[in-house]
Amino acid sequence: MEIKDIAKFIENELNTFEKMYQECKESDIATLSDILSYSLSQKSKKIRPLITLLVAKACGGVSDSTFRSAIIVELLHTASLAHDDVLDNSDLRRNQPTINACWGNNAAILYGDYLFGKSLQLIHTKEDFELLPIYSKIARELPMGELLQKDVLEKGDISRQSYFNVIDFKTSSLLGASAYIGAKTAQTDKDYTLYAEEFGRLLGRAFQIKDDILDFAISQTSGKKFGNDIKESKFTLPILDYIDQLEESVKLNAINFVKQKDKSDEEVLKFVMDIAESGSLKKTEEQVKCYSNKAKEILKHLPENQYREVLEQLVETLIERNN
Ligand code: IPE
Ligand code: IPE
Ligand code: MG
Ligand code: MG
Ligand code: MG
Repeated sequence: MEIKDIAKFIENELNTFEKMYQECKESDIATLSDILSYSLSQKSKKIRPLITLLVAKACGGVSDSTFRSAIIVELLHTASLAHDDVLDNSDLRRNQPTINACWGNNAAILYGDYLFGKSLQLIHTKEDFELLPIYSKIARELPMGELLQKDVLEKGDISRQSYFNVIDFKTSSLLGASAYIGAKTAQTDKDYTLYAEEFGRLLGRAFQIKDDILDFAISQTSGKKFGNDIKESKFTLPILDYIDQLEESVKLNAINFVKQKDKSDEEVLKFVMDIAESGSLKKTEEQVKCYSNKAKEILKHLPENQYREVLEQLVETLIERNN
């Protein structure tokens, strides 16, 4: 199943979401208006709002507050990507030039900040205010993840523990919050928030590891620049798994290659081919499977209904994705 097939189960809700989301494009400031219409019209998979809406449906039904929260999580995500592309020197996202590539780093950072502020503007009812602690948590943890990643990189720290610490902050935090918010704003008296959050966090791990694999998918379907993580000296899990199975005599060469600045495209391609041939990606895929299975296991604590099944399907779709 593709994401668009999953979206059909909550078509009405997603239409309402999309209408509200597109309203966020309005601005009287020319540059901001240009960036907003460029950025918010792009093809995002919208998986965070999808999670929020589906979890709410599974737990008892969506409320007005669920819709506002779904917009907020997508705005915070979009903001974090605007910042991330500056940090990663990325010039391609969703098959289009990044905001920093079109308008420069300063505008991209300010645009991200604007979206953080814009998301706060949507908070106005008592139910919305109850979500402030979780919004505050995401707003802290996303930059914490990026800053920790910078520290880890500068220290040359290639431990798995550090890799997971980084992805828990930069990715799992927001997926966990998206699911938590769905449960918190659902029309039910029962409290499913902790299970929902744990589901989202585990899915977040599987999702980020898969993203790290897709960074060097030869088929180049990601809509992002091939091998950018390697170019930027990131020791992502697929690279750690590759290095782990190398003979001691060549291990250091591989580590030094990833650390080396100014790699040519040919060198990156050769390194990626070596990884593909080594078979180490199987081990990384096993980790994706492990966290996605754990995520599906937690779903069993939500009420048994069609939407819970759709959430299960969403997990499968996300780990099989090619972008
Ligand atoms: C990209 O997220 C950033 C990661 C956490 C890996 P998505 O893959 O959800 O990005 P879009 O919004 O669909 O482009
Ligand atoms: C995820 O890391 C970034 C955020 C959570 C903002 P990446 O740097 O791998 O994301 P992509 O690959 O650029 O989308
Ligand atoms: Mg990036
Ligand atoms: Mg990044
Ligand atoms: Mg990536």
